[in-house]
Amino acid sequence: MAGNKNLHAANKAKKDEFYTQLSDIENELKHYKEHFKGKTVLCNCDDPRVSNFFHYFSYGFEHLGLKKLITTCYKSQNRDLFSKNDSERAIWLEYNGDKNGNRVPDPEEIGINYFKGDGDFRSSECIELLKQADIVVTNPPFSLFREYMAQLMEYNKKFIIVGHQNAITYKEIFPLIKNNKIWLGYGFKGGAGHFISSYEDVATASSHKEGMIRVSGVNWFTNLEIKKRHEDLILYKTYNPEDYPTYDNYDAINVDKTSDIPMDYDGVMGVPITFLDKYNPEQFEIVKFRKGNDDKDLAVNGKCPYFRILIRRKPQLEYHLAAEPQTPFNSK
Ligand SMILES: C[S@@+](CC[C@H](N)C(=O)[O-])C[C@H]1O[C@@H](n2cnc3c(N)ncnc32)[C@H](O)[C@@H]1O
Repeated sequence: MAGNKNLHAANKAKKDEFYTQLSDIENELKHYKEHFKGKTVLCNCDDPRVSNFFHYFSYGFEHLGLKKLITTCYKSQNRDLFSKNDSERAIWLEYNGDKNGNRVPDPEEIGINYFKGDGDFRSSECIELLKQADIVVTNPPFSLFREYMAQLMEYNKKFIIVGHQNAITYKEIFPLIKNNKIWLGYGFKGGAGHFISSYEDVATASSHKEGMIRVSGVNWFTNLEIKKRHEDLILYKTYNPEDYPTYDNYDAINVDKTSDIPMDYDGVMGVPITFLDKYNPEQFEIVKFRKGNDDKDLAVNGKCPYFRILIRRKPQLEYHLAAEPQTPFNSK
């Protein structure tokens, strides 16, 4: 896929300089409004001169009822790559809201502070700021996603961040999803994002946008409650052994499309990663990822479908009993 080529290239060459559009930030964050009241937000991979995260939170400060906005700007060590981080020193900004009543974050209302180091999110200076934060919101460097997530977990932070769906398959990330510590947000339209960048775009002409790269498979990762996570996936297919073959190396059936999950199968089912977009932990539990009992990739008649997540429907009996109206015929 064209977009995936971009991502692989980004990972390989650590091409992390692409910037999130304001419209994509607005589309996701509108679902989290109630979480921000009275909170300190940290955007810790964000040059305020180009970051739309800074724009979103500074202009929306009063509307969201924020307590404080902190933005840190990394001074890139790699001068060969396209980078807006060309100032001599790494800085961090602090904004405590509009003071002069014009409802705009004026330069004199934004405190500029200088780091001693380079503003790396892992540096002790940045970690001190992380400790102050209630919610971290950004699009971090994809090449450092594992470390970035590990740090959020270590400091027990709430977050909404952009990442690639491939990260779900990382051995450090999947257990967090399985154990309902993190989940996917609402996501990008069509599962692909256009990011502002000067990297060469390999998207097809019809999906190319000037000054942008298209990256398919991007998503939002969060540990904040959202409505979507509690909506049932409506199932309409029924099980039959022809359409849903059993794996050679695990007692589970293979399901090729999330919408084809049979409504009447109580055992374990292998579903594509995209299932996680519809995952409601009250409806399903996640059992295992990718491997069968022999620790090899799940296979049907010797062939491995693309990575599968093994899931099981949670018993619905209690729910249905509770929901059943009491009539003269069924009352006890
Ligand atoms: C994918 S870009 C997104 C930028 C911005 N958050 C946005 O969404 O517009 C990731 C940013 O992280 C910065 N970065 C790279 N390594 C970093 C590090 N170790 N610590 C902090 N920021 C870093 C890059 O310079 C880059 O601007």
